[in-house]
Amino acid sequence: MGCAISGLGLTPRQVTESRGEEEHLTEEQIDMIKVSWKVIQEDIAKVGIIMFVRLFETHPECKDVFFLFRDVEDLERLRTSKELRAHGLRVMSFIEKSVARLDQLERLDMLAVELGKSHYRYNAPPKYYGYVGTEFICAVRPILKEKWTPELEKAWKTLFQYITRLMRQGYLEEEGTKRTHALVPTKERPDKKNTAL
Ligand code: HEM
Repeated sequence: MGCAISGLGLTPRQVTESRGEEEHLTEEQIDMIKVSWKVIQEDIAKVGIIMFVRLFETHPECKDVFFLFRDVEDLERLRTSKELRAHGLRVMSFIEKSVARLDQLERLDMLAVELGKSHYRYNAPPKYYGYVGTEFICAVRPILKEKWTPELEKAWKTLFQYITRLMRQGYLEEEGTKRTHALVPTKERPDKKNTAL
């Protein structure tokens, strides 16, 4: 399961702190991602499964977040699990949508922030998001073979950093909203109409 890759196991906060600034995708990187996606797309279900089995192998704590998989001890069984296939496909469809929105980043931003909000509800905290990009790269590298280059790796890493930073933002926004709601008594909440008037 070894896959030498560095830099993506960091949380988005560590990434921005270590670089001092956020990374942006260049036009050239966007083109590279789109071309490589056409190849990856043909194995979309396989990549989704490999990615999640690897994630659970390298970071077993992530498995506990998944109600469906937390009690499965034998990870080999997961390779043939219909549920993991469906979940992997959901995540890969999100990557597909992200690739399709690379020319309309504001639409991608909204999508990723919403995804972060839903991950607050799934109890999946941002410290784990960086692992997914690492496992995605390890899963697609053998598929792209000689088409995989250090530049392409950098482009995909940057895209995952971009997405995970926005997911983290959405997660924190949702957490903040829920905290404020928990602190303000129901009758004083601005969204509650005063029916006594
Ligand atoms: C780049 C990182 C990630 C992406 C792009 C991603 C994407 C998705 C997508 C598209 C869904 C389908 C439901 C929805 O749209 O709300 C989903 C569901 C879910 N994700 Fe993630 N995810 C990421 C990281 C993680 C991590 C690290 C965990 C756990 C440690 C996690 C746990 C979950 C859970 C529990 C669900 C709900 C169950 C399900 O749909 O099967 N996700 N994720």
